[in-house]
Amino acid sequence: MMIADVFGCHERVHMAIWNTTLRLLFFCMWVLVPSRAYRSECRLELRKADCSHMNLNTIPQDLPEDISVLDVSHNRLVELKPSSLTRYHSLEQLDASYNNLKVVPAGLCQATPELWRLTLRHNEVHLLQDRDLRNCTRLIHLDLSDNRLRLNGEPFSGTENLAWLDVSRNKLTTARLGSRPQLPRLETLVLAGNDITDLKMDDFNFLSESSSFRTLALSSLPLKKVERGCFKPIAGLQDLVLNGCKLNPTLMASLCEELSETSLRNLSVQNTQQVILLTSTFKGLDKTNLTILDLSNNNMYRITDGAFQWFPMLEYLSLEQNNIKHLTNSTFLGLKSLRKLNLQSALAKGHTSPLPVIDDFSFQLLVKLEYLYMEKTSFREITENIFYGLPCLRELNLGWSSTGLKTVSNTTFASLKGSPLLQTLNLTGMGIKTLGPGAFSSMGNLKTLVLSHNYINQYLTGEEFQGLNSIQEIHLSFNQQMITLMSTSFIHVPTLRILMLGHALSPNLEMEPSPFRLLVNLTVLDLSNNNIANIKNGLLDGLQHLSVLKLQHNNLARVWKNANPGGPVLFLRNAQNLTVLELDYNGLDEIPTMAFQGLSQLKYLSISGNLLNFLHDSIFDDLWSLRFLRLQKNLLTSVRQETFKVPLSNLTELFMDHNPFDCTCESILWFYSWLNTTNTSVPDRAKIYICNTPSMYFNRSVLDFNPESCKDLVPFQAVYVITSTLVLGLMVIAFLVHFQGWRIQFYWNILVNRTIDINDSRFKRLVECRYEYKAYVVHAQQDKLWVERSLLPLEDKDFKFFLEDRDAMPGCSTLETIVDNMRMSRKIIFVVTEALLNDPWCRQFKAHHALHQVMEENRDSLVLIFLEDVADYRLTQSLMLRKGMLKRHCMVQWPLQKERIPAFRQKLQLALASSNRVS
Ligand SMILES: *[C@@H]1O[C@H](CO)[C@@H](O)[C@H](O)[C@H]1NC(C)=O
Ligand SMILES: *[C@@H]1O[C@H](CO)[C@@H](O)[C@H](O)[C@H]1NC(C)=O
Ligand SMILES: *[C@@H]1O[C@H](CO)[C@@H](O)[C@H](O)[C@H]1NC(C)=O
Ligand SMILES: *[C@@H]1O[C@H](CO)[C@@H](O)[C@H](O)[C@H]1NC(C)=O
Ligand SMILES: *[C@@H]1O[C@H](CO)[C@@H](O)[C@H](O)[C@H]1NC(C)=O
Ligand SMILES: *[C@@H]1O[C@H](CO)[C@@H](O)[C@H](O)[C@H]1NC(C)=O
Ligand SMILES: *[C@@H]1O[C@H](CO)[C@@H](O)[C@H](O)[C@H]1NC(C)=O
Repeated sequence: MMIADVFGCHERVHMAIWNTTLRLLFFCMWVLVPSRAYRSECRLELRKADCSHMNLNTIPQDLPEDISVLDVSHNRLVELKPSSLTRYHSLEQLDASYNNLKVVPAGLCQATPELWRLTLRHNEVHLLQDRDLRNCTRLIHLDLSDNRLRLNGEPFSGTENLAWLDVSRNKLTTARLGSRPQLPRLETLVLAGNDITDLKMDDFNFLSESSSFRTLALSSLPLKKVERGCFKPIAGLQDLVLNGCKLNPTLMASLCEELSETSLRNLSVQNTQQVILLTSTFKGLDKTNLTILDLSNNNMYRITDGAFQWFPMLEYLSLEQNNIKHLTNSTFLGLKSLRKLNLQSALAKGHTSPLPVIDDFSFQLLVKLEYLYMEKTSFREITENIFYGLPCLRELNLGWSSTGLKTVSNTTFASLKGSPLLQTLNLTGMGIKTLGPGAFSSMGNLKTLVLSHNYINQYLTGEEFQGLNSIQEIHLSFNQQMITLMSTSFIHVPTLRILMLGHALSPNLEMEPSPFRLLVNLTVLDLSNNNIANIKNGLLDGLQHLSVLKLQHNNLARVWKNANPGGPVLFLRNAQNLTVLELDYNGLDEIPTMAFQGLSQLKYLSISGNLLNFLHDSIFDDLWSLRFLRLQKNLLTSVRQETFKVPLSNLTELFMDHNPFDCTCESILWFYSWLNTTNTSVPDRAKIYICNTPSMYFNRSVLDFNPESCKDLVPFQAVYVITSTLVLGLMVIAFLVHFQGWRIQFYWNILVNRTIDINDSRFKRLVECRYEYKAYVVHAQQDKLWVERSLLPLEDKDFKFFLEDRDAMPGCSTLETIVDNMRMSRKIIFVVTEALLNDPWCRQFKAHHALHQVMEENRDSLVLIFLEDVADYRLTQSLMLRKGMLKRHCMVQWPLQKERIPAFRQKLQLALASSNRVS
C-alpha cells in the first residue's frame, strides 16, 4: 500500500514536470517560428542551385542557365509554369516539395528535356491526367508522396523509363495505377500509408511487363484482404515491406500463401502485431528463398518451436524489440544458413512476469551463425551450455544485458569452447563484480574483450586473463576505479595491442616492475580518469610500439615538478613512438625540460586544463611532426618563438584559447603575427584568444593587438644600445685609469720625453749650463736610505744631485753651503715625509730659503716627492707650500707597487727636465 502510494506520487510529479516542459516547448516554438528568417538568395554550388526556404512564389529567373539541380522546396509556389523552366534546359533534377502546387503542369518535361528526377512531395496535387507526364520519357525517379492524388486515365503510361515511383500517403484506395501494362522499367513502387484495404487479383497487372520490378513497399496500409493470385503479375518481387500493417494471423497466413510463388528474399514485417509465431505462420514461404526476415517491434511474446523451419536459406533474422519469454532448443529449428541473429531487447522482463529464460542448447542448431547480438536482453542466467554449438560464432554481444552475472568464473563461458572462431566478446554494463581465474580460458582465439561499465573490484593477478592467447584488445574502462593492478596483471596476454583502463584503476601505479612491461606490441594505452598520482620512471619501459597514451584527468603534477625528490619522473623517455598524447587536467604547473624529448612522431598533443604559466624555451623542439596541439585553459601569458616555433610550424589545428595572454610586444607579437597569417585551423581565433594584460588590451582579442606599437621600439633600441655602449666604455676606461693609469702615463711620458729630447736638449744645455747640480735634495735624516737607493740611480755623468751628507764641503758652514748649492742646482727636491715636516731645521730654514729662491727665480724649480700621503694643510704649516702653487708634474708620488717604480722614475725625470720658466 505504502509503496503503491509512493509510486503514485512519483508519477504525479513526473506528469507535472512533463506538462511544464511541454508548455515551455510550445512557448519556445511560438516565439521562435514566426521570427524565422528566410534566405534572400539561392545558394549556388557547382551546378546546383538551392532556393529552398525563400518564401518564393515563382521560379527565380536569374540563376545560371546551365544548372542541373534546382531545389525550390519549402516555398509558396502555387504553380510550376513550364515557361519559367525553359531557361534551365540542362535541368536534370527538380525538387519542388513542400509547396502548394495543385497540378503537375502539362509540358513540364517538354520544357526540361533532361529531367530525370522530379520530387513533388507534400503538395496539393489532386487530379493527375494523361497529358501531365507526357513526354517525361527520361524520368527515372518520381516522388508524388503526401499529395491527394486522383488518377485520371493512364498518367504513367508515358514514363517508360521510370524506375522509382513513390505515391505514398495519397489516400489512394487501390494499388492499381493503370489498367494496361506500362512502366516497363519500374523497379520500386512505394504505396505506403494509403487507404488500400484489399489487394485484388489484377491490381498489379499494370506491372505485368515490368521485368525489373523488385521492391514493393506496402507499409501502414489498413489491409484486410489479399486476393488469390494478386502477386502473380509481379512474381519477380524480391523485397516486400509490410511494416506497420495490422496483419492478423489469418491475413498473415494468406499473405505468405500468396507470396509463395514470388522470388521473395527480403521480408520486413516490423510492427505488424505478430505477438505469437505459430509453426504455421510462415508455412507459405517455404518455397521462397527468403534470406532476410525482420520481425522487430512486434510485441511478440511467444515463438512456437519450429516457427522458422521454413527458412533454410535465411541468413539474417531480427527479433529486436520484442517481449519474448522463452527460447528453447527448438526455437531456431531449421535456420541452418543463419549468419546473423539480432536479439537486441528481444527478451524483456515485464513488471509482473518472471525473468525470461534461454534454455541450454538454444543456439545449438545455428551451425552457420557468426554474429549473435543480445544487447539489452534480460534473461535469468547464463547457464553452462547456453552457447553450446555455434561453431562459426565470431562475435557475441551481451552488452547491457541483465543476467544476474556477478562473477565470471571458468565455467561461465565454458560453453564457448565449441566456438573456436570467436573474436569479439562484449560484456559491457552487465554488473560484473569479479573475474575469476581462467574466466576466459575457453577463448583461445578471442581478439577483443570488452568489460567496460561494470563494477569489477579486485586485484588483477593476471590469472583472470589466462588462456587468452590471441587477445589484442581488453577494455576495462569505467569500472568504478576499484581495479588494482599488480606487476603480474598482464603477464598472460603479451599479444595485447589495445588496453583501455580509463576510470577503472585505484590510484596507485607505483609497482615495480611495471605491469605493462611485457606488452611489447601495445599501441594504445588508456590510463585516464584514475587520479593516478604516483608513477615510476619505468612505467612505459619496453612499450616500443606505444602510439596512443591517454593520461588525462589524473594527478601527475608532482611527478613532473623539479622539486620532486629524485627529480622529475621522465616516464615518456622510452615511449619514442607516441603519436597521440593526452595529459589534460592533471594540475600540471611545470613541464620538465626533457619531458618530450625524442617524441618526433608525436602528431597530437593535448595538455589543456592545467596550470601551466611558463614553458621552457626548447621543450617542444623535438615535436616536428605535430599536427594538433591543445593547450587551452592554462595560465599561459606569452607565446614566444623560442618555445613554439617548432610545434606551430606545420600544425593542422591549434587550440590555445582561454589563457590570460599578456599582449605586449615581448610576449605576444610573434604569436600575433603567426595567428594573423597562418593557414592552420584555429577555431574562433578572433573571439576566444583574449588579452588579460596590459590594461589597455584587457578583454580584447589578441588579434586586436597593434604590431605597429612595437616598431616605435626600434629607435629606442638604438638609443639604448648606444647609451649602454657608452656607459660600458666609460666604465672600462675608468677601471683602466684606476688600475693601469700609471702605465698609460708612463708610456705617455716616455713619448713626451723623447720629443723633448730631440727638440730641446741642445738648446737647454746652452741656456742652463750655469747649473752644477741637477737638483738639490732636501730630505729628513730618516729618509736617507731611500734617497740612496731610489734617487741616486737617477744620476748621470753630467748632472748630479746635491746631497748634503755627501757633497757639502767639510768645514763650510751649513748655511752657506745650502745657499750656494741651491743656487747651483737646477731644481730643489723635497722628499716629503712626516719626518721632514717635523724636522724644525729643515722646515724653517731650508724651506724658507727655498721659497725665497723660488720667489727670486721662479717657483717651477721646486719638485716634491711624496713618500707618504701628506695633507695639504700640513704642507702649508711646515713648508709654507700649497700643492695648488706647484705644477702637477712637479709633484711625484712614490708608488707602493714595485712594478710602478719605473714609471715613477720616468715621471721624476720629466719633472727634473721640465723648464723653470714660468709659462
Ligand atoms: C511529346 O509527345 C508527343 C506525343 O505524345 C509527340 O508528338 C511530341 O513530339 C513530343 N514532344 C517532344 C518535345 O518530345
Ligand atoms: C575451474 O577452476 C577450478 C578451481 O578454481 C578447477 O578445479 C577447475 O578444473 C577449473 N575448470 C576448468 C574448466 O578449467
Ligand atoms: C608482436 O607483433 C609482431 C608482428 O605483428 C609479431 O610477430 C609478434 O609475435 C608479436 N609479439 C607478441 C608477444 O605478440
Ligand atoms: C607538413 O604537414 C603535411 C601534412 O599535414 C606534410 O605533408 C608535410 O610534409 C609537412 N611539412 C613539413 C615541413 O614537415
Ligand atoms: C594581419 O592581417 C591584416 C588583415 O588581415 C593585415 O592588414 C595585417 O598586415 C596583418 N598583419 C601582419 C603582421 O601580418
Ligand atoms: C597559406 O596558404 C597559401 C595558399 O595555399 C600559401 O600561399 C601561403 O604561403 C600559406 N601561408 C602560410 C603561412 O603557410
Ligand atoms: C569582456 O567582453 C565581453 C564582450 O566582448 C563582455 O561580455 C564581458 O563582460 C567582458 N568581460 C569583462 C570582465 O569585462
